Amino acid sequence: MALSLTVNGEERSLNVEGDTPLLWVIRDELGLKGTKFGCGAGLCGACTVHLDGQPVRSCSTPVEMAAGGRVTTIEGLGTSENLHALQQAWIDHGVPQCGYCQSGQIMSAAHLLATNPSPERDEIVAAMTGNLCRCGTYSRIIEAVESVAG
Ligand code: FES
Repeated sequence: MALSLTVNGEERSLNVEGDTPLLWVIRDELGLKGTKFGCGAGLCGACTVHLDGQPVRSCSTPVEMAAGGRVTTIEGLGTSENLHALQQAWIDHGVPQCGYCQSGQIMSAAHLLATNPSPERDEIVAAMTGNLCRCGTYSRIIEAVESVAG
């Protein structure tokens, strides 16, 4: 089916099956490889992107659900010349270990701060519980989010 969606501010027209996971459209059709495939079952958060400002698991979101919508991926959060404050904080706090889950982590944190700019530590922990990290970088993630929170 033909559909269009806005990805990182750019309108994109696609011809894909409507039940194709948004993740595969982002990675394979649009070539945006920052969003990762982890579990493929909506459980780990590695594939988190924003759809109309809300965090979604792109591995389990059919692209037809995003038709006409506004998708933001890690590539659209900031640029290499102008990093999002969270991306800079991730660098400053040396958050990533293997790094695989971190784009999803940052997208979840970005949603938290967009809706609650001054979260308490327990609110940060609660907001990030759906994003798993096999390297156990959780304490650095919380420190980095706290450093950006107002
Ligand atoms: Fe989508 Fe794990 S890959 S939640």
